[in-house]
Amino acid sequence: MESTSGKIEIRCTVNDEPQSVNAYPLERLLDVLREQLHLTGAKEGCGEGECGACSVFINGEVVNSCLVPIAQIEGASIRTIEGIASPDQLHAVQQAFIDCGGAQCGICTPGMVMAAVNLLQRNPHPSEADIRTGLAGNLCRCTGYMKIFESVVRACQNSHK
Ligand code: FES
Ligand code: FES
Repeated sequence: MESTSGKIEIRCTVNDEPQSVNAYPLERLLDVLREQLHLTGAKEGCGEGECGACSVFINGEVVNSCLVPIAQIEGASIRTIEGIASPDQLHAVQQAFIDCGGAQCGICTPGMVMAAVNLLQRNPHPSEADIRTGLAGNLCRCTGYMKIFESVVRACQNSHK
């Protein structure tokens, strides 16, 4: 519903919690997550849909949250990096990033992890080419990508033990 300020109320779930936010229709999902819901895991890299640092799941699909107007979120299910681990254990991808040194400055890491988690959900046995393709929308300025790639391979291995 639109108020006199021009803001609208949006209802959705975020990491399985029902949420209601008031925002201008064209406010970016990334900003609402970070500023209203204090979920600062998703990062702003480029702000133009190029780097993947702001990746979240919307209804199970990986999306660049810097490109999504909040008005499109009504009724949607959002998952952020804060909702990837279980309460007592990191996700296998998160643990592999730690074990393999897949994170340096950390700006790209939440988006990389979200992309890798999504890849493994869709394809539990990815080839090396599948992993490269699955991470192709995510840029990293620090690692040269090899340790990130190794992290995802390790996560695959660990999830099939
Ligand atoms: S900040 Fe969204 S894709 Fe770069
Ligand atoms: S770890 Fe710094 S951008 Fe990837």
